[in-house]
Amino acid sequence: MDRIKLISMFLCVCVGSMFMVECGDPYIFFEWHVTYGTVSPLGVPVKGILINNEFPGPNINSTTNNNVVVNVFNNLDEPFLITWHGIQQRKNSWQDGVLGTNCPIPPGTNYTYHFQVKDQIGSYMYYPVTSMHKAVGGFGGLRINSRAMIPVPYDPPADDYTLMIGDWFNKGHTELKKILDSGRNLGRADGVHINGKVAKGDGKDEPLFSMEAGKTYRYRICNAGLKTSLNFRFQGHTMKLVEMEGSHTVQNDYESLDVHVGQCYTVLVTADKEPRDYYVVVSSRFTKRESTAMGIIRYMNGKGGPSSDIPKPPIGWAWSLNQFRTFRWNLTASAARPNPQGSYKYGGINITRTITLANTAEKVDGKLRYAINGVSFVEPTTPLKLVEYYGVADKVFKYNNIPDEPPAEISKVALESIVLNMTHKSFVEIIFENRETALQSWHVDGYAFFAVAVEIGKWSPEKRMNYNLLDAVSRHTIQVFPHSWAAILISLDNCGMWNIRSEIWDRHYLGQQLYISLLSPNRSVRDEYNLPDDVMTCGVVEGMPRPPPFSS
Ligand SMILES: *[C@@H]1O[C@H](CO)[C@@H](O)[C@H](O)[C@H]1NC(C)=O
Ligand SMILES: *[C@@H]1O[C@H](CO)[C@@H](O)[C@H](O)[C@H]1NC(C)=O
Ligand SMILES: *[C@@H]1O[C@H](CO)[C@@H](O)[C@H](O)[C@H]1NC(C)=O
Ligand SMILES: *[C@@H]1O[C@H](CO)[C@@H](O)[C@H](O)[C@H]1NC(C)=O
Ligand SMILES: *[C@@H]1O[C@H](CO)[C@@H](O)[C@H](O)[C@H]1NC(C)=O
Ligand SMILES: *[C@@H]1O[C@H](CO)[C@@H](O)[C@H](O)[C@H]1NC(C)=O
Repeated sequence: MDRIKLISMFLCVCVGSMFMVECGDPYIFFEWHVTYGTVSPLGVPVKGILINNEFPGPNINSTTNNNVVVNVFNNLDEPFLITWHGIQQRKNSWQDGVLGTNCPIPPGTNYTYHFQVKDQIGSYMYYPVTSMHKAVGGFGGLRINSRAMIPVPYDPPADDYTLMIGDWFNKGHTELKKILDSGRNLGRADGVHINGKVAKGDGKDEPLFSMEAGKTYRYRICNAGLKTSLNFRFQGHTMKLVEMEGSHTVQNDYESLDVHVGQCYTVLVTADKEPRDYYVVVSSRFTKRESTAMGIIRYMNGKGGPSSDIPKPPIGWAWSLNQFRTFRWNLTASAARPNPQGSYKYGGINITRTITLANTAEKVDGKLRYAINGVSFVEPTTPLKLVEYYGVADKVFKYNNIPDEPPAEISKVALESIVLNMTHKSFVEIIFENRETALQSWHVDGYAFFAVAVEIGKWSPEKRMNYNLLDAVSRHTIQVFPHSWAAILISLDNCGMWNIRSEIWDRHYLGQQLYISLLSPNRSVRDEYNLPDDVMTCGVVEGMPRPPPFSS
């Protein structure tokens, strides 16, 4: 924590539109220096990406409605950009930090993100979106605590621990990028890690965290890896699931949890066993060869190392589907809800548009690409949001360039930036149709959605009968099993340009993503903030006069 400049919270001085954040709520400030540095989670040195010399990067500890200001210095020799995964950036896609909304930070310069964690609670993460940087670091945890006056549906834990887990390749990001650019598959990861480490089990491992006998601890677990679903478990202890991607859940106990790429869970673990060391265990799922990583959790004043009896992961993906079905939103828990009026009784709202997104793997000019409804996304040379705001969208992309329903057979794949034009305040159903044998993980920026069904086979309108229209968890990332589908319902009340992407990072890099555009009908700052004064410009909008600001 040494070089994190965390200036203590103070009340905001209102500075008009400059910071694009709400006044009156406390500010927290961070200064981050992004550098290369050697990391070796699996014992093989790799050129990694550090933030303030830390790998994984520092945790952001915030409280609902805090204004977060992060001044990021890019000391790499290539452009860099971070996204705040799951942070809804209400009215403020300017701060989302993806290449469709923001120009990357040029090497040797700095850029300051200003955003508010408005009406959110829970466990989140951040990670880089440029190049294949995410493969080698630059990721970390972001927690949002409930405000003091909001009751939390469990007793305050003795401490709060973050575990970033993920698969790992013993190759630098440049080499991984080269493989993908040349149209090849990344292949299998070399292993998995827990907070950038793997315990050797030789009795000399440093513990990740400590617990005091009799006390209960909160663990926040996020899969920050590239492509592998992971099973997470504690030796000898069950986990009580209390929160998932921003929603308090019904508090079931689990022996283990499947964490797909891009997903985060919060669990409670009580130190009620014989005081000694225990392993936390992470294993790859759905891979031909299983990789496992362990970390040590130490009981304070405990005696002895961990038992060599390692709990086994489940087998097959039906287990994972069944586990998904046990997740329920706790409807009586009070918490900040993103859109309390619209979403609480989401089952009674009429669907205004249904969009089916089918992923396929294709060869284009002999090179591997991933497509959605027949189009493989290419990153725009100027962020989509910027060209839209400057009124020059037609120079960079066409709206609605994929159909709402995928063709039955996808023969020819186009390479374009995909943007779907959506209507503000509509209520949309999105079906993720997985025609492939690989598991998918889909994420939506700017929103939480209701994951109402995940099923095997092909979707049809009759399947709506099976939707959970009562207590589906409001979340931001959903897995889709092989030859299966997932349905989400989403209330489109947040204007901006928002990324819908595969969290499977080689797929994301090779085209499995798109944007939805929601314009403020009145061009009003009540719906969307103006272009921030200090936003970076690049590409075709470089040097263009700034459009007049929106009205109030
Ligand atoms: C995180 O913030 C909360 C609320 O301000 C505080 O109680 C807690 O001690 C902080 N935790 C850490 C690790 O800084
Ligand atoms: C870069 O950092 C300096 C020093 O902290 C700060 O004054 C400036 O506003 C930052 N620039 C941007 C674009 O964030
Ligand atoms: C849901 O939240 C309520 C209110 O905080 C709590 O009393 C209850 O135990 C929770 N229910 C479940 C099933 O977790
Ligand atoms: C939803 O649609 C039904 C059938 O078209 C209609 O009767 C009902 O009034 C609509 N409900 C709302 C809340 O708009
Ligand atoms: C977006 O769609 C709406 C109707 O759904 C239409 O009125 C509007 O002109 C479209 N905007 C763009 C930029 O295509
Ligand atoms: C937009 O303008 C219409 C018509 O003037 C008005 O009814 C509506 O409330 C306005 N919406 C917003 C969000 O300002």
